[in-house]
Amino acid sequence: MMRSCWPIALMAIAGTGLAAAHAASPAATAAVKARKANYKEIGGAFKTINDEVKTGNPDLATIRPLARDIATRAAGQLKWFPKGSGPESGEKTRAKPAIWSDMAGFNSAHAAFLTAANGLNTAIASGNPAHIAQAQKTLGGTCKTCHDRYREAD
Ligand code: HEC
Repeated sequence: MMRSCWPIALMAIAGTGLAAAHAASPAATAAVKARKANYKEIGGAFKTINDEVKTGNPDLATIRPLARDIATRAAGQLKWFPKGSGPESGEKTRAKPAIWSDMAGFNSAHAAFLTAANGLNTAIASGNPAHIAQAQKTLGGTCKTCHDRYREAD
């Protein structure tokens, strides 16, 4: 009698394991939320800087704190991608599995982003509109490079 119960008990345990594997972990949920919120801020800041650059004479007081904010967030970027926070988490995310399977490539896209964000801050410190425009363009290129490789299209 006891014996015949074993397979059912094992199936129940296996079933629990599967359910746990498919439910998003709190850490994954938090990571996806954090990165989306950060990229949203980065996107907003980037757009305002772009609009200023297009005037040919960007308002330094407007763009200085925004460029600083982008650089600060860029520095924290790698923390937003803990293992298990990709699409397999069950969270709604556009992060491609390639982020984790090609960590070296993702790290270098991150490093280029950080360098370009710092470069924009240096250009703003110079106050030279042509330097600022060039640095903003370089920074935009690093967003695109990473998105093309590591972000699902909408
Ligand atoms: C190293 C890679 C990388 C770089 C560099 C990068 N992004 Fe992203 N970005 C991502 C990934 C991955 C996502 C998808 C996040 C998700 O859905 O979980 C994303 C999402 C976004 C989103 C959507 C956020 C949302 O509300 O879901 C915006 C806006 C964005 N990025 C703007 C930018 C801008 C602007 C830059 C450059 C100034 C930039 N990103 C640089 C990887 C990058």
